[in-house]
Amino acid sequence: MSSVVAVVGATGAVGREMLRTLERRNFPARRVVALASERSVGKKLPFAGKELTVELLEPKAFQGVEIALFSAGASVSREYAPIAAQAGAVVIDNSSCWRMDPEVPLVVPECNPEAARVRPKGIIANPNCSTIQMVVALKPLHAAARVKHIVVSTYQATSGKGHAAVEELRAQIAEIAAGKQPTVKVFPGQMAMNLMSDWKPGQHGYSEEELKMVNETRKILCDPEIGVTPTCVRVPVVTSHSETVHVQFHRPMKASEAIELLRGAPGVVLVQGEYAPGKEPQPLLAADTDPVYVGRVRDDLAVPGAINLWVVADNLRKGAALNAVQIAEIL
Ligand code: A2P
Repeated sequence: MSSVVAVVGATGAVGREMLRTLERRNFPARRVVALASERSVGKKLPFAGKELTVELLEPKAFQGVEIALFSAGASVSREYAPIAAQAGAVVIDNSSCWRMDPEVPLVVPECNPEAARVRPKGIIANPNCSTIQMVVALKPLHAAARVKHIVVSTYQATSGKGHAAVEELRAQIAEIAAGKQPTVKVFPGQMAMNLMSDWKPGQHGYSEEELKMVNETRKILCDPEIGVTPTCVRVPVVTSHSETVHVQFHRPMKASEAIELLRGAPGVVLVQGEYAPGKEPQPLLAADTDPVYVGRVRDDLAVPGAINLWVVADNLRKGAALNAVQIAEIL
């Protein structure tokens, strides 16, 4: 059955990727509506060999819309997701606004597709990009041995902060190459040739991003007892987040068992071999591809029965647009 699909925030980094993903996966859409702010009304966006003209995000834009993919930030979602749902659309929201609402399912199709069926508010939340790639890798291990404690450090690409952030990184690289002082507007400091934690403060000294990884992991894996110790870091990469993940289970797990569980796991490409410099999955390899790449699966040297993983995925694809479109596909 084909649907009328709206993309809210169609001109943004994730919105553009949503359009590309709908097109690439031949999503059965009768009509696609591109919505953004007044700034972008009338802009043309390429879609399926033609052009979509950007329309204004306003309540009447949702008339006849059956699926609304939102990626225009939390305040836009807070205001417009209920309006779209009221107009009869199923909202799949990429912002953080609805994720922890008990009446809104938080869905990663490889982990908890059944949750998408129960949506009392007509809204389904798309998780945080760093959480998605981690839980896709952990799901088969969790099913086998139940995850007890995760220590995760992230290396997150600038495109996760939006289009303007990528532009600023590129401009800073050019300015530094020309011997100039880099211009700082979007990031809290120089991003080129540097790394930093650039998210808003959360609680207890953790950033909001870090707390998302704690809470969303528990919700998606349906296990409120999972302990998550997160450190989130922005790196001067354009696309693809990378993560080191240390995992302890309720029973001992060997790396050899984890490797077998990960081989062929849904959404996962295992890149496993003898350690060699530069052979692990890297952001450039993952960019513009769909899978979650898992490599460097090792027994922990200090904690018997725990393992360590290296996980890389395109943050705009599996971390955002692809996951949202996959949810739309299972509706
Ligand atoms: P616009 O391009 O018109 O500003 P990114 O995360 O890459 O910065 O993109 C944010 C997306 O959200 C853009 O498509 C942007 O549209 C859209 N957006 C931001 N604020 C609003 C708003 N108040 N109403 C509609 N769209 C918005």
